[in-house]
Amino acid sequence: LFAGQSEFVKGVVAMNGLPTPDRLEVCFAGRSNVGKSSLINALTGTKGLARASNTPGRTQEINFFTQGPELYLVDLPGYGYANAPVKVVEKWQRLLKQYLSGRQTLRRAFVLIDSRHGVKPVDAEIMKLLDSSAVTFQCVMTKADKVKANDRQKVLDQVRGALSKHPAAYPEIVLTSSEKGDGISTLRSIIAHLE
Ligand code: GTP
Ligand code: MG
Repeated sequence: LFAGQSEFVKGVVAMNGLPTPDRLEVCFAGRSNVGKSSLINALTGTKGLARASNTPGRTQEINFFTQGPELYLVDLPGYGYANAPVKVVEKWQRLLKQYLSGRQTLRRAFVLIDSRHGVKPVDAEIMKLLDSSAVTFQCVMTKADKVKANDRQKVLDQVRGALSKHPAAYPEIVLTSSEKGDGISTLRSIIAHLE
């Protein structure tokens, strides 16, 4: 699945803009700046494919990327950005709900959690939305290179506790660093084994 090339397909702002659901699809959700775009770049081995930046909230559309001919990787807009106007937030929540509950080919959502911060209330809200949309989701810890082993364990325990409250949660947590490459091949393999 990860042998082929990656390309940006389009940025979508409304349901009628979604590409034809003709292949396996996974999406990446998470707070602004958690590392969604960086993870997609690492997974595809294509630097600069998904924009990665220091400016939170920069990814404002649902961005579709191909990985070979059989897979879509979907970069969802970051949530929890304090400065986003209420109108914009509401519009995104509506589109996100429609996308999550209406996309037949969506096999799994990856909810990205910063290895330093653990699950925040906004993350729990997204998990609830995934529960109610019946989309299986799996947690991916990002920026693992930024925490010491000791602190990492505490955060992992907190995440496990949070996951136990969500019926749609897949229990295995994946630790990654897009910077160092940790966990990237594991995550590729998880995606490649989805059917
Ligand atoms: P939005 O599109 O704004 O929602 O952000 P995002 O979730 O796509 O985050 P992005 O990939 O743009 O990364 C945010 C910042 O974190 C960038 O400065 C990245 O270089 C940095 N970053 C991402 N992943 C890692 C990582 O594994 N390790 C380290 N040290 N930094 C990372
Ligand atoms: Mg991004």
